Amino acid sequence: MNVRLQALNTLLQVVQHNHSLDAALDKALKGQQVKKGAYDGAHSGLLKELCYGVLRWWPRLEAIEKRLLDKPLAAKHQDLRLLIWLGIYQLEYLRIADHAAISETVACAQAIKKQWAKGLINAILRRFQREREQILASLNTDLIATTAHPAGLLTQFQQAWPNNWQEIVVANNARAPMSLRVNQRLLTRDEYLSRLQQAGIAAVAVAHVEPAISLDDPCAVETLPGFAEGMVSVQDAAAQLAANLLAPQPGECIVDACAAPGGKTCHLLEHEPGIDLIAIDNKARRLQRLEENLQRLGFSCQQIVADASDTASWWDGRPVDRILLDAPCSGSGVIRRHPDIKWLRQSVDLRELIATQGQLLRALWQTLKPGGVLLYATCSILAEENQGQIARFLGETADAEEIPIKAAWGCPMQHGRTILPGEKGMDGFYYARLRKV
Ligand SMILES: C[S@@+](CC[C@H](N)C(=O)[O-])C[C@H]1O[C@@H](n2cnc3c(N)ncnc32)[C@H](O)[C@@H]1O
Repeated sequence: MNVRLQALNTLLQVVQHNHSLDAALDKALKGQQVKKGAYDGAHSGLLKELCYGVLRWWPRLEAIEKRLLDKPLAAKHQDLRLLIWLGIYQLEYLRIADHAAISETVACAQAIKKQWAKGLINAILRRFQREREQILASLNTDLIATTAHPAGLLTQFQQAWPNNWQEIVVANNARAPMSLRVNQRLLTRDEYLSRLQQAGIAAVAVAHVEPAISLDDPCAVETLPGFAEGMVSVQDAAAQLAANLLAPQPGECIVDACAAPGGKTCHLLEHEPGIDLIAIDNKARRLQRLEENLQRLGFSCQQIVADASDTASWWDGRPVDRILLDAPCSGSGVIRRHPDIKWLRQSVDLRELIATQGQLLRALWQTLKPGGVLLYATCSILAEENQGQIARFLGETADAEEIPIKAAWGCPMQHGRTILPGEKGMDGFYYARLRKV
């Protein structure tokens, strides 16, 4: 299949059906495996590049489209709008010969049975070629186009971070590095760095995050030395702070309340294998991925498919020592890694998410023993999901107190600490630590 047509179909899954880009690409690439040998690595690489690129830049691509069309396309032609965005993205951001980018993109109109639009798309892309400089200059005063952020999200960042929103949007548009977590049960970070060097993979240690390594260039996990043997896992450095902050001790009962796909679950076990760990998630399919990750690392733990806030469905009544609540959130800190959030967040009700986070916090607190610790984490940088949530909880919970986090990373908030995206190469993240008195 024409890779641009496959990109269009993948993007439609996100734009029309609200699927995540990861899920849509997984489906596209699995289809590819079925037709074994039909596509090569270059095809998959270009497919990902086109999908990630269009979703990363769509507010800017849309602004260009508006300047190229005399009359906007009807909503029912979202597929054609995506084709135009795909075409502009190739012309503007990729080193593909213009004639190939245009002719292959135009050809997709026929494949989606909109042959009548071939001339239109061809004319628009050729006009962009001719008038590129004036069009791009006209974008300079358009904040949506220059930041490539949709209006709602941009306003949220401006309000939450009046002094930092510019660096945040720049970081959101950059490509996230590939970060690794070294399994320190098996070898030290320095030892693994030597292995990478021997394999010709350039990498550096991440300052202040003990097991973390950042690769200069992403690579396929199978090419990482010792990956199959569990020496290393792929995980952003900010997420690797959780295990140390929770600091599980041998023999303790730990609840990982929103655990799948298990990045932090596995790290907790690497950190302290002698814990009694209960991993809960309300999505069975995501827990399957957790099981695969555990198996690769040679760990096991109790896994429960449940709504963690419905404690009656999973808790046996024995108070637990520590809880990790890696809450479902807007993902506003990980846009550089998941640019589809720019599109998908438009239809997400933040109030609903905040209510869910509050429910989880209040319900899980009941299962914690006096003296026990709860680590609240999100990959959001919005106050309402973070310090606002914790302030409300502390205000209404007499037996809760904050354990301040003193660290060389992030910025201190009214409660907890926030890492802004890009800080020391990390994703945007938030942590707050609470103790039951
Ligand atoms: C931020 S992700 C967790 C990432 C995971 N901790 C890791 O490090 O790989 C949030 C998870 O919460 C789960 N979730 C959402 N609402 C939940 C609920 N009410 N009870 C349990 N899990 C829930 C989602 O399915 C999702 O897997």
